[in-house]
Amino acid sequence: MVYIAILGGFGVIGSGVAQVLAQNAALIEKKAGQAVAVKRVLDIRDCPGHPMEHLLTKNFEDILTDDEIKIVAEVMGGTEPAYTYAKRALLAGKSVCTSNKELVIKHGAELLRIAQERELNFMFEASVGGGIPIVRPMNLALTTDEIVAVAGILNGTSNYILHQMEKTGAAFADALAGASALGYAEKNPKEDVEGRDASRKLAILLSLATGRQVNYEEIHTEGITGITAADFSAARHFGYTIKLLVDGRINGGGLEAMVAPALVHGSNAFSTVGDVFNCVLVQAKVTDNVMFYGRGAGKLPTAGAVISDIVDVSKHLHRHIMHTWSEEVNPVLPAGSYIKKKMVRAVCSDTVIAKNSIEKIYPGAKIFFSQDKTAAWFTPPETEDETSAKTAALAEAGGILKIEKTLRVYEPVNMEKI
Ligand code: HSE
Repeated sequence: MVYIAILGGFGVIGSGVAQVLAQNAALIEKKAGQAVAVKRVLDIRDCPGHPMEHLLTKNFEDILTDDEIKIVAEVMGGTEPAYTYAKRALLAGKSVCTSNKELVIKHGAELLRIAQERELNFMFEASVGGGIPIVRPMNLALTTDEIVAVAGILNGTSNYILHQMEKTGAAFADALAGASALGYAEKNPKEDVEGRDASRKLAILLSLATGRQVNYEEIHTEGITGITAADFSAARHFGYTIKLLVDGRINGGGLEAMVAPALVHGSNAFSTVGDVFNCVLVQAKVTDNVMFYGRGAGKLPTAGAVISDIVDVSKHLHRHIMHTWSEEVNPVLPAGSYIKKKMVRAVCSDTVIAKNSIEKIYPGAKIFFSQDKTAAWFTPPETEDETSAKTAALAEAGGILKIEKTLRVYEPVNMEKI
């Protein structure tokens, strides 16, 4: 029998972990080689009538000093007290499994080192992509390959909102309320809609891909709060939809990483990812393209990912499962140098004069004028700095009132050129 404790056991994910452990007990026992039982639950809440009420403690020391507890599942979220608890658990000889992306990106490298030094494990499958197995494949199957790009949809809440806005014409606030009601959004949903949640997950994947700490604060991050029906309409005219995309590229020259709403062509698989689903494309030199798809948030899929770690740790109770993620920082290149195509939208005072102005700066651009005198066109692949300079000049040019929006166009790395 392996005894575990759940930190944050009465929350959405914690309840899910307990539910799946009970529901699939026989299966889990078979896979783990022994039964897995919850011995203590730490929570600040009282939860009268909860099936695990008798296991509740409000004192972490009860868990720390219980030598029978070998695994701590941390599903509280936030960096504190999660970091202190996770570190103390490892120092006390217990492995830790977490769904907490804030903890993982801020302290993961250190906690992995402590785990390694003590033949323990610090596991975090559920921290990226909810129910999608992505951390383990990055650490196992893809570990011998040179990864050149990691891109995709890594925030279920934003994807749900954009999908609702596009398909049902829902207002942003209503769609966000729906995502919160379904348990997808963070306690502070700004983390979702302003892109930081996705940025942390991209940083985790890039840290795993490069073996060095990628700080998410260095990633240029834009959210979806400014996306409008007019943006969707212009994108649709050109055969595209809009998704909140993470886009990381690793090349000899360094590391590029960006999180921003981007146009995705209808022929690209990301365009079909709806609702709370996430999708990640990993591009690697030997393996070529590998894609991962599944529910990116939600109680049971995320709980399932936490339990997959608990089972893995139960099978490796006295052996560290190697990760190559050091505390050495891998700097992210400044975004101004990234080369991408963009769709620009401009509000015009006179469409004929505006057309001339746009064509002077973007010769040959195919310009779409909507009924409200807004022009939309694509730039060629050019740096962020070039686009900024050109659109600044256009904002002052004849026939143009203002540049309304600039959205990047996603194009995967062309593996034939690698
Ligand atoms: N708020 C997150 C999301 C939860 O919407 O993707 C899963 O990490």
